[in-house]
Amino acid sequence: MKFFIDTANLEQIKEAQALGILDGVTTNPSLMAKEGITGKENILNHYKAICEIVDGDVSAEVIATDYEGMIKEGLELANLHPQIVVKVPMIKDGLKAIKYFTDNDIKTNCTLVFSVGQALMAAKAGATYVSPFIGRLDDVSTDGLNLIEEIRLVYDNYGFQTQILAASVRHTMHIVDCAKVGSDVMTGPLSAILGLLKHPLTDIGLAQFLADYQKGNK
Ligand code: G3P
Repeated sequence: MKFFIDTANLEQIKEAQALGILDGVTTNPSLMAKEGITGKENILNHYKAICEIVDGDVSAEVIATDYEGMIKEGLELANLHPQIVVKVPMIKDGLKAIKYFTDNDIKTNCTLVFSVGQALMAAKAGATYVSPFIGRLDDVSTDGLNLIEEIRLVYDNYGFQTQILAASVRHTMHIVDCAKVGSDVMTGPLSAILGLLKHPLTDIGLAQFLADYQKGNK
């Protein structure tokens, strides 16, 4: 499973990259705003800075919601850096834009996906990634993980190459559960990724090993 970090915070991206397990970055307008990155030029420069830190795909979201606007913005984003993946919302014009980008060899991430039907349409349009938001479904008492399982089933039924990118991952157990049901990618916060490393028995065991070493070397 590929690990993407879901942030626009450069320090956190650097920390995840230094772990050696990072495969890419996802951002969205809210994550950019959270870091105080506003204005087109600043946002484009920030995407370039992210691409210089990581080796893998970096999702950059279009703001336009009409077909022509999404194509114009998407081309501009794609031309910024070879690692850019154009993130497009799951709406009618978004679907058409994904098809255009697919036909022009530009990678896409279809975002704001909340149903199997939407994921099927994204795959039909040739999206590189589809982003079901599992945390936001959990927020409204709907099983987000179940959506990943259902999309996996449908994609495998027909051999769709679109990669399932579990988004809105909020905690460590989300990552483990996504891995169990065969999500191709997960994108989550650094805290959720670092949580995978933790186990009290590891800490207790290490403390014991070091104490025994000290006893034997007195
Ligand atoms: O990748 C999508 C993600 O940024 C949304 O996460 O926590 O705002 O639902 P969240």
